Order: sequence, then structure tokens, then C-alpha cells
Amino acid sequence: MVNSIELDLLIVGSGLAGLRAAIQAAKTSSQIKIGVISKLQVMRSHSVSAEGGTAAVLYPEDGDAIESHVYDTVKGSDFLGDQDVIERLVYEMPSEVYQLEHWGMPWSRREDGRIGQRNFGGYSFPRATYAQDKVGFYEMQTLYDTCQKFDNIEFYNEWFVSSIIHDGQRFCGITAIELSSGNFYTFKAKALIIATGGAGRLYSFSTYALASTPDGLDMAFRAGMALKDMEFVQFHPTGILPSGILITEGARGEGGYLLNKDGERFMKRYAPSKLELASRDVVSRAMMTEINEGRGFKHETGVDCLKLDLRHLGKELIIRKLPAIREISLKFSGVDPTNEPIDVRPVCHYMMGGIHTNIDGATEIQGVWAAGEVACNSVHGANRLGANSTAECLVWGKITGELAAKYVLDGKSPTPFPLHLVAADEKRIFDGIFRGSGNVNPYEARQELTEIMNEKAYVFRNERDLVEGLKKVRELRQKSWRHVDDKAKEYNTNFTNVMELDSMFRVAEVILVGAIARKESRGAHARTDYPDRDDKNFLHHTLVYYDTKEPILKTHPVTITKYKPVERKY
Ligand code: FUM
Repeated sequence: MVNSIELDLLIVGSGLAGLRAAIQAAKTSSQIKIGVISKLQVMRSHSVSAEGGTAAVLYPEDGDAIESHVYDTVKGSDFLGDQDVIERLVYEMPSEVYQLEHWGMPWSRREDGRIGQRNFGGYSFPRATYAQDKVGFYEMQTLYDTCQKFDNIEFYNEWFVSSIIHDGQRFCGITAIELSSGNFYTFKAKALIIATGGAGRLYSFSTYALASTPDGLDMAFRAGMALKDMEFVQFHPTGILPSGILITEGARGEGGYLLNKDGERFMKRYAPSKLELASRDVVSRAMMTEINEGRGFKHETGVDCLKLDLRHLGKELIIRKLPAIREISLKFSGVDPTNEPIDVRPVCHYMMGGIHTNIDGATEIQGVWAAGEVACNSVHGANRLGANSTAECLVWGKITGELAAKYVLDGKSPTPFPLHLVAADEKRIFDGIFRGSGNVNPYEARQELTEIMNEKAYVFRNERDLVEGLKKVRELRQKSWRHVDDKAKEYNTNFTNVMELDSMFRVAEVILVGAIARKESRGAHARTDYPDRDDKNFLHHTLVYYDTKEPILKTHPVTITKYKPVERKY
């Protein structure tokens, strides 16, 4: 007999989107029972690592405009963003900034006392609202504090969610393992919001927390929901060497330069007007071109890189506005950026793709929504602008929290719970993984998988590499890594690691098949064999559905309201 917990609304994931959703659901009704479930402790969610800013139009009187934020985002997306969704983000954002302020967010201040905003890549106005360079940490703390005010939000920390249970149409519940006991549970509920974040640990060089694996994407995929636009992976220009930890775009927003080995600010050749503040895809491609053409530096580890120079900003500004960057640089690279440039190279930072949703965050299963990075409502298209991600988490956390709560209140009669699916899932994870056998070290398999992704599906891609990458991923998946050597029940991290790896294989495959199929260059997907954007054949979203043999590919139209695609220049 499987242990069972009954709630009204489940939110899987305790980052910005999950917490914002929980608050909005609780505000919508104090009568519904809300559970926030996470494989981590709340403040270990990767959202705490967001650094540079949250985009919003706050100062029309100084020259900013809603329409400008909309157009910058459409252009940044390389015209693949759904324009109605982008409008929604931009219109909703200013009030989210003030809402956070009212809940206690310590935004940095301008000299006149108003909330501070800085420059970020791809924007026509400095609209990245910031709190030093620890925006995610302060936002998370503000939201987590606010959650404590509601009696009907309960946190289930350190639970690994395994599968979504539905009856073919409507959501019924989930299965999960309580990590502290190792016990298997079902959670029955009327509605679900998936807010498990991105999966950048699919790449070996990554800004993400080690926990950022695709479990959430994969459970939706296995449950029959499409993953959309997964070929669009963002490589942030400035991952510090050797670890890949993020050096915020705020460093360039405050005036930092990128230099090649000739001491040249090379961005002037690639983006003469925006320079280092072109969109991320443009800057990362420029950096890789410099490296590929021999104008990079060699880091002591042998890795090619470029330099980010902040020295001219002065110690006072760096300490006041970029203290975390200085600390990261000192602790993880031994470099004090007040007197030495930082070694950087493009690093996996964000997934534009995710679970296919509509503008409200609703998925293809009734009663299931997705919000934040795990979702693809197509707000970012082929390339996200910095500071639009924390913004997205807030806006769609709020939207989905309210809609899911109202759906619960509407009180559709529960469907019979498909217990056979719970039994099948228990068998899948305990017989298939926990008691599985094999001789291939799963940690080595995980490392190899992430290196394949880094090598074959990085900033520049081509057919040969992508096909070879897919072949290698599939061969590796066939090897016998599905086993857990540690047989303890409690806090068995060996078990969760292999569960994560299981999801990584399926989602890596989705990225690669999408990238092979998209024979054009658009946003972050740059194909050297198809260097141009091809609006005639590829101005569409990619949908990938699960199948036991091969993933199934479909397409989905892009919503264009005002802005017809034109050539992008920065
Ligand atoms: O560079 C940064 O601070 C990253 C921000 C973002 O990805 O939105």
C-alpha cells in the first residue's frame, strides 16, 4: 500500500516561479491546501543565483516605454518569440517590481532615492532593476518570507518528484520519494504547477547549480506533454574559468569591456552600436569567432578564453554595485577584478525551450500549468534577453498561481485515481533503477553525457557534430549505468543522481533532434552549415513528443502581432 497525501494544489519547484505561484494561489483563496514540493531546501533553489537584474519599464518620464521593452524582446528573440506573450510580460512587470518592494525587497537605489536600474544586453534603455548583483537571492528571500504569512502553504522540502499521474486528459496527482526516509508516496491533488527551472547541467560548462537537471521537463515529457523549442540553449558570454560560475552581464552593463589577446575591444567589429551590450547570442558568437581565429587567451587549464576588464570602473563602484562578482572572482579564480581582468568564455546559462504552454501557462493536460524556465510559453523565442527570466518567473508565477487556484475552486469532481500508473512508476524507479544492475559508473556516464553536449551542441553547431552527438548519447544510454550501489534508504544521493541521469538522457536527445531538424541559424541556434535565418521554412516553434522508440517532432505557429521579422543588427 503506497503512502498517500491529499492536497488541492501542488507546486513542484521552490524557485522564484514556484514561490510567486504559491503566494498568488494563497491570496486567491485561503481555503485551498497548497503544497510546494522540492528536491532541495527552498533557499538552495537555483533562482538564488540570479545576479544582474529583473527587467521592467519603471521610468517613462525618463524616456523608457512599454513598446520599447516589447520590441527589444521581440528583436532579441530573433522574431521567434510570441508577441502577445511578450506584451503580457512587459505590461505586467512594473507592478511586479513594486509588489516585491512592498513585500520587503531591498532594491538598490538611484541617487534620487528611486529604485535603481542598470544597462543590460539588447535593451534600448537601462531597465534591469537590480539589488547589487544578488537579485535572485534577495527576490527569493522576499518571496519565501511572504509565503510564511499564509497558513495554507506547506513546504515539502527534499522530496524527489518522479512522475505525473493523469487519466489521459485530466491531472490526478504525482508520485514522489521522500528523501529523508526513502519512502515512496503519491500526492493526490486537483491542480499542478510545474516550476522546476532549467536543466543546464546537461552541459559540462554551466552556470547552473548541480541540481539543475531535467527531472521536471522529463516528467512532463513522459506524461505526454510536448517539449517546445529545446534546441535553443543560451550561452552566456561570461562564465568565469575554470568553474563556469556566472559573471553577471551587469558587469558589462556597468561599463566592463571584453578584450582579445591584442587588447582590442573586438565587439566593435560585430556590434558597432551596442558593443558588449549586444544580445547574448551575438556576443557569445563574437567571442567564439575570436577564439576560433586565434585571438583568444589560453587559461592555465588549457581552455581558450577572453578577458573581461572592469579595472576602469574603479574599486568603489565594483564594491558598491558588483560585490558578488568580486567575491566570486577572488574565491573561484584567484583574481581581484579591481586590478586584473577576469578569464571568461561562453557558458550554458539558460534554456529558451521547455514544456509547451499557452499564454496562460496552461499545458496540454487539464489541471497542469508550467511557469518559469521549465515552461516554454515562447516569451523568449530563439534568444532571451538578460533580466527577462526573473521577470518571467514573477509574471507567470502570479498568472498560473491564480488560474490554478480558481480551477481548484471551480471544483470539478475528481476522476478515479489511476492506481495502476502509480504501481508502474514504482516498478520503473525501484526495479529499473534502484535495484538495477550494471558495471558502468553512472557518475562517469553523467560526465561523459555533459561533455558530449558541450562539444557537439555548443555556440556553433553543424549537422555532422549534432548527428554524431546524438549517436554518442544514444550509445551511452544503452550502456549499463542504471544501478545504485548505495542501498541505504535515507538520503540516498546515489539514487537521486541516477534518477537525474535517467531524465538527462531523454532531454539531451530532445535538444539534439530539435537542433538537427532546424536547418537555419536563428538566435542562440547558430548552424555553420546553414548560416542564415530562414523565415520561409523555419519561422515556427518545434514541438517534441515522447515515444518509446524515437521522439516525435511537430511544429507550432509563431504569434506575430505587430512586428514582421527583419534583419537583426546591434
Ligand atoms: O548576467 C546576468 O546577471 C544574468 C541575468 C539573466 O540571465 O537574466
